[in-house]
Amino acid sequence: MKICYLPGDGIGPEIMAQALRVLDVFQSEGMKIEREEALLGGAAVDATGEPYPPATQQLARAADAVLLAAVGGPKWDVLPRPQRPERGLLGIRKDLNLFANLRPAVLYDELKNASSLKPEVVSGLDILIVRELTGDIYFGEPRGITVENGKRVGRNTMIYDEDEIRRIGRVAFEAARKRSKKLCSVDKMNVLETTQLWRDVMIEISAEYPDVELSHMLVDNAAMQLVRAPKQFDVIVTGNIFGDILSDQASMLTGSIGMLPSASLDENNKGMYEPCHGSAPDIAGKNLANPLAMILSVAMMMRYSFADETTATRIETAVKKVLAAGLRTGDIFEEGMQRVSCTEMGDAVIARL
Ligand code: IPM
Ligand code: MG
Repeated sequence: MKICYLPGDGIGPEIMAQALRVLDVFQSEGMKIEREEALLGGAAVDATGEPYPPATQQLARAADAVLLAAVGGPKWDVLPRPQRPERGLLGIRKDLNLFANLRPAVLYDELKNASSLKPEVVSGLDILIVRELTGDIYFGEPRGITVENGKRVGRNTMIYDEDEIRRIGRVAFEAARKRSKKLCSVDKMNVLETTQLWRDVMIEISAEYPDVELSHMLVDNAAMQLVRAPKQFDVIVTGNIFGDILSDQASMLTGSIGMLPSASLDENNKGMYEPCHGSAPDIAGKNLANPLAMILSVAMMMRYSFADETTATRIETAVKKVLAAGLRTGDIFEEGMQRVSCTEMGDAVIARL
């Protein structure tokens, strides 16, 4: 397994360190893992002037899988847009053609009181958001801020071609097939033509998946339903911008965004694995971050890029045991539980492995 890992910014290096310790365990048992560190985001800007430098590009392209912690921070927000850490993230997603972003929102039973929703609304929650990741308004041209007739005008372009919709649709139908065979496609077809095409193509390809029940929902309603009755969903498929927003929302159903891993895959299951959360600059360097989303991202890597379900389940089981033992980082802390640091959480997972 050739892994390129990118600690990034903020809490990134702290949580990545815990993920690497998990890999150490497997390596000590004889698993063949080659790993190389590279720079992405603000760390890369500071060292090279670019958020996704050529050296990182080379290592990431050569790897079977990429592990990414988090990028960004206020320090770099003043830079011109092409040099901002977020551009590095978008750059690597596009460069590696990682069009399929899988964002599971799973509520661990132990955390049902950590959610801001009533336990009965969220208990047993297990949904998968399939977000298109290399198109839409994130990448559409023309874009930018220009001056027209003496006025500043801001412009972005929402655009999808049918092939882009079809390939993410197939990923979502396949995923639904392995789960409860229910797929909800989210769009805004009452207003946006791009998403009218989205809906048309989803309906066309549904003919290839007669065993999967396809439904459609407008994005505003989907946002409401996610907090009203989230368990009505199983797999959700949507475009880049709607998926960005809905996946943050879904994460809070589970108590903390600090628990959620994600996978971003190309057509051959080469993938980049990262927590759904950001770089949390406010707690960076304090050993307070929750490393579980990062560690669970290693599990997703084992499952999707290396087809090693056994190891993936082993990691997830270790995380469940740690939660069952009452260990909590600050973001998921509740009265009566044991508050632990980032490294202590790492120790606990490794002990259970
Ligand atoms: C995410 C993040 C990124 C996105 C940002 C950091 C560019 O919010 O992965 O959801 O918008 O895709
Ligand atoms: Mg986001």
